[in-house]
Amino acid sequence: FNVPIAVNEPVKSYAPGTPERDAVLKAYKEMYTSTIDVPLYINGQDVITGKTTTMSPPHDHKHVLGTYHLAEKTHVEDAISTALEARKAWSLMPWEQRAAIFLKAAELVAGPYRYKINAATMLAQSKNIFQAEIDAACELVDFLRFNVQYMTEIYSEQPKSTSDAWNRVEYRPLEGFTYAVTPFNFTAIAGNLPACMALMGNVVVWKPSDSQVYSAKVIMDIFEEAGVPPGVINVVFGDPVMISNTVLSSPDFSGLHFTGSTFIFKELWKQIGNNIHNYKTYPRIVGETGGKDFIMAHKSADAKQVATAIVRGAFEFQGQKCSAASRAYVPESLWNDVKKFIIEDVKSFKMGSPEDMSNFITAVIHEGSFDKLAKYIDAAKVDSDVEIIAGGNYDKSKGYFIEPTVIVTSNPNYTTMHTELFGPVITIYVYEDDTYAETLKLVDSTSEYALTGAILSKDRYAITQATTALQNCAGNFYINDKCTGAVVGQQPFGGARASGTNDKAGSPQNLLRWVSTRLIKETF
Ligand code: ALA
Repeated sequence: FNVPIAVNEPVKSYAPGTPERDAVLKAYKEMYTSTIDVPLYINGQDVITGKTTTMSPPHDHKHVLGTYHLAEKTHVEDAISTALEARKAWSLMPWEQRAAIFLKAAELVAGPYRYKINAATMLAQSKNIFQAEIDAACELVDFLRFNVQYMTEIYSEQPKSTSDAWNRVEYRPLEGFTYAVTPFNFTAIAGNLPACMALMGNVVVWKPSDSQVYSAKVIMDIFEEAGVPPGVINVVFGDPVMISNTVLSSPDFSGLHFTGSTFIFKELWKQIGNNIHNYKTYPRIVGETGGKDFIMAHKSADAKQVATAIVRGAFEFQGQKCSAASRAYVPESLWNDVKKFIIEDVKSFKMGSPEDMSNFITAVIHEGSFDKLAKYIDAAKVDSDVEIIAGGNYDKSKGYFIEPTVIVTSNPNYTTMHTELFGPVITIYVYEDDTYAETLKLVDSTSEYALTGAILSKDRYAITQATTALQNCAGNFYINDKCTGAVVGQQPFGGARASGTNDKAGSPQNLLRWVSTRLIKETF
């Protein structure tokens, strides 16, 4: 099919004096100084429920950005029935028109909404502008564009026909409605999950994270302006337990697209299992969940490169990426140099609010996350088998600020070597050079999660050993790079074990989960 060729959206620099820098700061200030009231969005209508809660910037938690409305059970039921009604026309709409709507949405993000969606992500999710640009602008645009390309690749796959039988496959949407549950940490993921299901002809009830309401509102405005018809994507905020109970007990529920915690994903899966006899069809379940991502260095690696991979992998985006490096294994012979470079780097980081563009680190998402991280840092200050070599301070008086923290342990099973913290804390185990093979086994046996990982080495044999020994430890495995930064259209993203169903975000495999094919054989 001759659809526009998908290209990655170029990342703007936001250097001092650039128009984009002025534009995003202007949008940020306007949003900061005004207040917003975010309704639910059901059947193409804003729904005011009367029950609201406030939202604040994580880096400035006493400031109120506005309110958002909380759904009652009846709103969720309305969202479901309206979606089912909208499905009648949407599922029959020619795919070109669905594609055009989402390509239009991509151009709206890349153009007129770019600074607004970036500013919302900076303000309400505390990303600095470089992080917001990569996430909310570029990655969201990339998902929307590449999904269209992948959709057409799927549609063009057809079985062989013979001279007397025409065999053809119809890629139909799932029967019923689908459910998207999205996280705070990537605006792009939040937009992509409902969008890729809708692109394939499905109708969606979307529950964004309570910490991502502001940018969810911008995304929904974009979808509406791009032409997503009423009822196709419906947004509900509020009590996650009530919302999920209502959605998952509907006989028409047909698919869950989830990004978030391992615990919640397993709870939803259990609930789907408990309801299995009520459903008209077996629901599709796709989830990208936790991670305890690693960087493994071999003695042949360059110490500076190892330090950079650790620091960037662990601390960019405040460590709040499911791909973020949160444990590392460094050989003794490299350790002194790696340690020196890490300490130098961490000292050079500035921490503070995102509107000051020189800040590398901003706040973590909320008080719960801050308290959890502080608890683990406090424990590391007194535990005998660990040492904090950088960071270790925190302060929540204005915002939820945690210094980038590096813990070094002599115990490869220390709590923070296997517990997901989701913040700017990494733990490093220094191993004896000649125990490389055993250390690889150790990494495998302590990898409850399997999302991302990296090997740094100049020795081809050592790379092969790691690639083989760690084959089940990471859905995205990086050789001589950090373990973060997957780009849509280049590195499809996802992992297995406790990290998810590995239905790679940004891939044809993912889109295939949202269709139910019909094979038609016709003879003449
Ligand atoms: N695209 C993000 C990364 O790989 C999730 O870091």
